[in-house]
Amino acid sequence: MCGIIAFKSLNGLDVNEIIVKGLKRLEYRGYDSFGFAYPSGSEVEIMKKVGKIGDFSSEPVIAKIAIGHTRWATHGKVSEANAHPHLSQNNKVVVVHNGIIENFQELKDFLVKKGYAFRSETDTEVIPQYMQFFMDSGKDFKEACRLAFNKIEGSFAVVAMNNNELVGARNGSPLVLGVDEKNKNYFLASDVPAFLEFTNKVIYIDDGEMAVLKENSSPKTSPKAEFFDYAAGSPVKKQIVEIKWNIEQAEKGDYEHFMMKEIDEQKFTIKAAVQQDKNLIQKITDEINNAFGVFFIGAGTSYHACLAASYLFSHIAKRHINVVLASEFPNYEEFLTEKTLVFAVSQSGETADLLEAIKSAKRKGAKIVSIVNVMGSTLTRLSDYNIMMNAGPEICVLSTKSYTSQLAIITMLAYSCAGKLEEGKQIISKAAKFVPEIIDDNKKNLKELAMRLKDRHDIFLIGRNSDFPTALEGALKIKEVSYIHAEGFAGGELKHGTIALIEEGTPAIIISDSRTRKQTLSNAMEIKARGGFIIGVDSENNEIFDYFIKVPEAGAANSILMIIPIQILAYYLAVLRNCDPDKPRNLAKSVTVK
Ligand code: M6R
Repeated sequence: MCGIIAFKSLNGLDVNEIIVKGLKRLEYRGYDSFGFAYPSGSEVEIMKKVGKIGDFSSEPVIAKIAIGHTRWATHGKVSEANAHPHLSQNNKVVVVHNGIIENFQELKDFLVKKGYAFRSETDTEVIPQYMQFFMDSGKDFKEACRLAFNKIEGSFAVVAMNNNELVGARNGSPLVLGVDEKNKNYFLASDVPAFLEFTNKVIYIDDGEMAVLKENSSPKTSPKAEFFDYAAGSPVKKQIVEIKWNIEQAEKGDYEHFMMKEIDEQKFTIKAAVQQDKNLIQKITDEINNAFGVFFIGAGTSYHACLAASYLFSHIAKRHINVVLASEFPNYEEFLTEKTLVFAVSQSGETADLLEAIKSAKRKGAKIVSIVNVMGSTLTRLSDYNIMMNAGPEICVLSTKSYTSQLAIITMLAYSCAGKLEEGKQIISKAAKFVPEIIDDNKKNLKELAMRLKDRHDIFLIGRNSDFPTALEGALKIKEVSYIHAEGFAGGELKHGTIALIEEGTPAIIISDSRTRKQTLSNAMEIKARGGFIIGVDSENNEIFDYFIKVPEAGAANSILMIIPIQILAYYLAVLRNCDPDKPRNLAKSVTVK
């Protein structure tokens, strides 16, 4: 959570163009407040504001170095004083930070005793203050940063600026260096889209490492980047990696919101998800077949994909897999051995609960396979095998295209375990061809349905078999973006209690297909008999339905398609209720705190 962007340039760059625009691209990481800073003569110019960055722009200012931050509050309320950047007491060290400093109180008490005055309630402020403390005792900026990084505990990505020098470090929160060799510019950011317009060449900074960007004194051809292990102080060699994403993928284009753009992109992303290296898939299939205990773990939407995996593996591969929420997984550590295989499912590859779970699995010697979208993310570096989702950047805080990509990969793996990889890929590719029709034919209907539902307080969703995870995921989409209470249930569960909430007009979305229709529709009848308003999502209309959304039958690939109309419904509910679909309240795209 929180987004960082900073640059160091030989000839100077426009702060508005790089920092403000970069923060707009990173806003999905947090949007309580934002701020930036750059040197102005011997002083530091600082701008901080509460709220979303929206269409904020500043006067063009050319600087050779600058630093910016968009915040998702953890320590201290949302206020200008708590917005980043934070300064040392002498206003010389400027810091932005993503993560949590767990021992900040202890550090703060020490500094207060030494006479350092604090201006915010944040944990972050101890970082510039500690840097100044070390500089006051004669250390240079780089060494002061290094010593401060060794003092702070917790997960963090930090960028600090002093005069013409920029230092960044990471421990558990993402930080990547963008290298624009041609124009002699470096960028430090939480995520690649922040600087993708200027370069696709990156260096991933690993946990325990720091990058130092400073003037190249002789010859003065470009700023210099050096990397160190900040505990040992020893230099580290890094490699430049070329990213395949392009800037158009990270922009809205003609769409009003990223959410609808990304829903539409499922026309391509589902197919792209199954374009995988055959050898890799075969190796992973062998790992599944030889494992003693296979777990699928994830959080939020990615957890729902894991739940779908349990049905898909059971039906297609006749293989039992365990599904556990990432945050609960450490409780299963006792069951893990060297023969356990853990699938970590994540769009960002930075979800703290998931990374913690993976670390506990690795301690037991388990092997890790990630199904992940962000190349170079922490998860990719902790895993034995990576299956990249190939979905392109997902900017909207809600997961949409990443969910269907995860489902496509999981379905393909289940087919591969059944010895039918090619058949599976064909079924998925055939299903992907229905996506334009599902979106285009249903948009008008779904907008009309959203009009009818927009003032309701509750919406229920039910489905059996692999339609059950769809019900859970559909409910999550509706509530996180429109703030209408929505709950998903297995078809048979409602009558065990929740049916008490059904009254005249209560909307219930019934997700059914040829395998589940008979039983799910009898559950729908139970709801209708109590006055429920029945919305059917199926390939066939039925007289029980008060409203019908058609999704073509795609057999084992059904679960990939069924969610799409509900994503669109959630989008229209948000728009009609004046909610921002791309940045729902209280949320952030990557949840990097436990
Ligand atoms: O990046 P991840 O897939 O690991 O993220 C997990 C969840 O935080 C994420 O799916 C979240 O539930 C989304 N907001 C759902 O739309």
